[in-house]
Amino acid sequence: KERFLASLRDLDESVPSPNRVVDRFAATKRAEIGYFANTPDTDPAVTENRTRIRAILERVPASTLGSGLHTIESRAELDAAMEKAAAASWGGADRRAVLHRVGEALESHRDVLLEVMAAEAGKTIDQADPEVSEAIDFAHYYAELSADTPDGATPVPARLTLVTPPWNFPVAIPAGSMLAALAAGSAVVIKPAAPAERCGTVLAGIVRDALAAAGADPDLVTLLQVDEGTLGRQLIAHPLVDRVILTGAYETAELFRSFREDLPLLAETSGKNAIIVTPSADLDLAVKDVVSSAFGHAGQKCSAASLVVLVGSVARSERFRTQLLDAVSSLEVGLPTELRTQVGPLVEPAAGKLLEGLTTLGAGERWLLEPEKLDDSGRLWRPGIRDGVRRGSAYHKTEYFGPILGIMTADTLDEAIDLVNDVDYGLTSGLHSLDADEARTWLDRVQAGNLYVNRGTTGAIVRRQPFGGWKRSAVGAGTKAGGPNYLVGLSGWAPAPALI
Ligand code: SER
Repeated sequence: KERFLASLRDLDESVPSPNRVVDRFAATKRAEIGYFANTPDTDPAVTENRTRIRAILERVPASTLGSGLHTIESRAELDAAMEKAAAASWGGADRRAVLHRVGEALESHRDVLLEVMAAEAGKTIDQADPEVSEAIDFAHYYAELSADTPDGATPVPARLTLVTPPWNFPVAIPAGSMLAALAAGSAVVIKPAAPAERCGTVLAGIVRDALAAAGADPDLVTLLQVDEGTLGRQLIAHPLVDRVILTGAYETAELFRSFREDLPLLAETSGKNAIIVTPSADLDLAVKDVVSSAFGHAGQKCSAASLVVLVGSVARSERFRTQLLDAVSSLEVGLPTELRTQVGPLVEPAAGKLLEGLTTLGAGERWLLEPEKLDDSGRLWRPGIRDGVRRGSAYHKTEYFGPILGIMTADTLDEAIDLVNDVDYGLTSGLHSLDADEARTWLDRVQAGNLYVNRGTTGAIVRRQPFGGWKRSAVGAGTKAGGPNYLVGLSGWAPAPALI
């Protein structure tokens, strides 16, 4: 074990990977900010925490937090809101101190954020709680980076940044995008995704109040809701917008670009992520990580594992499949108000591509576990596992964004890596192996932004695992969220390095 860990430490420095090109400022930044302590999640072993969580869940069914967001209805109203937002300024406020205050405010509003995430987005507490921790980490981490510019570079802050976050991480991602833009000296307009607008409203309210309490202009953050038709297009293409931070589907990024050709876009987009399991793996750990990566938040994560690729004897024996089947069959599917729930509801009823993924097999495939719709809402599904996924099939190539996992097989690690790379996306990737040479080969060849050895593919930790992809998982980006260069890319201190 010691030798394995030592060789992984060597790898960190020695493997020439696109990630290291992207993080070329990492060494200096690390030295400058020094030790960074991540925020702990709520510990359910503490009695008072369990009492708190029960009280939150009791409030959820009748919760109205964040409701009543005003929707912008005309171009004139949009222009007025944008002009007001663009007039906000940091003035002489100390961004570092203010953002630390925002981090403290997010911590003191943890329960409210958990309540609205469960009520609106169907998030179970175990999924929602780390989101709040991540949001707090973003505040403190970007606060530290805000004090810092690379040698000799001149900051050119964007005046106004438009943030268009997704619904699946309705607190961590909008918080991270907003706080990075603020740290880089920009004002922010945030347009929450429609299925998570109450979460966005509560979050923006907490940040605005904290800005005001710390002596900064609360209008540095403006929340707007517009319909996704003409006005939505006008918001994206608005002449007062200097930069857009989008997290969403690759197609959405393309659509944004069609609205405005010269749009300065920083987009984290889709994924089709796989975990490879080799014969040297700790299979018990691999099963646990595959299950949590595939089915946490019902698989509705861009970082979720959608494929597991079994290599050699793992593919030929039944052990991995049997353990996986047992583990997934025993998952509790239900509403987030029940503490025992492990797989919560889909944010919207399964439809289109996802419904097809949950109901239709491709050539040569069979259900190891057939997905099952559990009620009439179309939102509660027992997760499914399809075996025998073939190279080049629809399932191999498509992002489904729901509780479905596919099994592929390969004779060798090289063949498995080829399968993993043979998709359009490159967001996260996992390897389960206790062989350092295999880890070395995989790290060298696999095409994804976030690479995890003997760990699941979701839940990147701020500062320790900067998050972002390549290929079609990133559009116009090049720097990773929660990493040392994110503000560099945002503030115009240096052009974001191109991804391979
Ligand atoms: N950062 C999230 C994760 O790592 C995805 O957006 O799971």
